[in-house]
Amino acid sequence: MPKKINWGIIGLGSIANTFARDLVRSDKAKLYGVASRDPEKAQKFGKKYKSVKNYGSYEKLAKDPEIDVVYIATPHTLHFENTMMCLQEGKAVLCEKPMGINSKEVETMIEEARSRNVFLMEAIWTRFIPGTEKVLELIRNNQIGDIISIRADFGFKADTNPESRLYNKKLGGGSLLDIGIYPLYLSLLLLGTPVQVKAVARMTKTKVDSYCAMLLDYANGAKAVLESTVEARTPTEAFIYGTKGTVKMHFPFHHTKRISLFQNNKQASKVYHVKYKGNGYYNEIEEVNNCLISGKTESDKLPPSVSMDLIRMIDRVKQEIGLRYDTER
Ligand SMILES: NC(=O)c1ccc[n+]([C@@H]2O[C@H](COP(=O)([O-])OP(=O)(O)OC[C@H]3O[C@@H](n4cnc5c(N)ncnc54)[C@H](OP(=O)(O)O)[C@@H]3O)[C@@H](O)[C@H]2O)c1
Repeated sequence: MPKKINWGIIGLGSIANTFARDLVRSDKAKLYGVASRDPEKAQKFGKKYKSVKNYGSYEKLAKDPEIDVVYIATPHTLHFENTMMCLQEGKAVLCEKPMGINSKEVETMIEEARSRNVFLMEAIWTRFIPGTEKVLELIRNNQIGDIISIRADFGFKADTNPESRLYNKKLGGGSLLDIGIYPLYLSLLLLGTPVQVKAVARMTKTKVDSYCAMLLDYANGAKAVLESTVEARTPTEAFIYGTKGTVKMHFPFHHTKRISLFQNNKQASKVYHVKYKGNGYYNEIEEVNNCLISGKTESDKLPPSVSMDLIRMIDRVKQEIGLRYDTER
């Protein structure tokens, strides 16, 4: 039996738990090590998900020679230093979104990975969700004609605690980086890089965006109308309008299990139910396992160049709304 890919996890918070539950479903992967700033937390997490080693230090995990790939699950502003540390130890990295808080960080991370010939991918699980594959298939098969516009939103009501990850500027707070990234990624996936980006936002007392509305204009005339907010629950749906029909990605569009196709101005002509395994992170995990098993340093479906295009779009929105993190001054 071939050797399993040994995974490490850094930062044992909310998403690390959800991710670990999917990681243990993979036959190709083994949860080898987990690292927290708090040794007791690492012990508890490790016991729960049957990790071989539990570290009270991120550095020690990065130096463990048995670990093949590290999943970075810390707040946005720490992705850069945590990823760089792992890459410099020769570890492959799956880094949570956004890969960095600006283009400069992401560019440096990609250069580091490429110079060391080490795998690097941003954890945009949406790309590997079967529902997303179905949408791409419908568009490829000309079911809706040419895309003329996209409308997508992502909103939920978060706790307004100024110290929380979503409101605290030091941790990369704001709706744009946390969830606005999903409608932006969908537009990038389907339409590429826009020629023009316009945006307005409502800023919190902590000076991050609690609401962000974005308008993208494309060279071929296509448009995207996107929204993100941590102030209210919004439909969290995506509509892709084409010259022949419309595709709707039902709630929650970024990991949808239901897609409706509308043609000839009629009610939904077809509804597709597209299931996935576990919490939705399984396919992303398998992509990393398969890349590592076949010796690839970049995923074909989600290469670092796409993360670069995405963060450049985010930077353009940040500039429009006057959002700057402390380390960017
Ligand atoms: N793909 C997805 O669906 C998805 C969903 C949610 C979040 N995310 C991404 O995952 C990342 C983490 O989000 P989360 O919701 O899991 O956050 P979280 O619950 O706050 O966990 C983050 C963890 O990072 C570690 N950490 C290190 N330095 C920290 C600091 N100064 N303050 C707070 N925590 C610190 C902590 O782990 P230790 O105490 O163990 O060191 C903490 O538990 C974010 O970048 C977010 O964008 C992705």
